[in-house]
Amino acid sequence: MQVRRYKPGEEEELWQLYHDTTHIINGEVYSKEQVERWAPHDKNMDEWKERIKKKNPFVAVEDSKIVGFAELEADGHIDYFYAHHQWQGKGVGSMLYSAIEKEAISQKIPHLYADVSVLAKEFFLKQGFKVLVEQNNIICGAPAPNFKMEKKLP
Ligand SMILES: CC(C)(COP(=O)(O)OP(=O)(O)OC[C@H]1O[C@@H](n2cnc3c(N)ncnc32)[C@H](O)[C@@H]1OP(=O)(O)O)[C@@H](O)C(=O)NCCC(=O)NCCS
Repeated sequence: MQVRRYKPGEEEELWQLYHDTTHIINGEVYSKEQVERWAPHDKNMDEWKERIKKKNPFVAVEDSKIVGFAELEADGHIDYFYAHHQWQGKGVGSMLYSAIEKEAISQKIPHLYADVSVLAKEFFLKQGFKVLVEQNNIICGAPAPNFKMEKKLP
């Protein structure tokens, strides 16, 4: 498996991965309405392509297929962080996280932080993050808990 920056032209493959993981994996704990709001079936692709260009994510690639992607912002915020739904628990997230942390340290970013889903909390704890706040948002009329988590970097 290789981790590198995304290349222009890969935006639709990233959308498919994000859409499927959100509906299939996050859909295990969040409602249909909530996951449809986060990853709508009729997503405007021009908007998504613009977003990806700005975020310039890291992608994990296996046999020319993207199996995960992760976004690091200049202030240390980790935004989207997704492994392909058929590649859960196979080390994709760990490889992406290592790339993000290495990049953040090289940029002298003092800490990483993220709003982490219920499903990803254990993963981020394993990477050395601490929970700062448990957030109990109501989205589409139902609870959608997540956790503000942070890791200080050397
Ligand atoms: C969170 C996510 C990116 C982790 O990626 P992954 O490729 O499955 O993670 P890895 O295989 O590298 O796992 C690393 C470690 O975390 C643990 N882990 C990962 N997900 C876990 C979970 N849901 N519960 C418990 N442990 C978990 C693994 O067991 C592994 O532990 P080990 O090192 O002791 O073996 C992935 O589960 C995902 O795409 N989740 C849905 C999308 C999402 O919620 N993203 C986060 C938005 S904040």
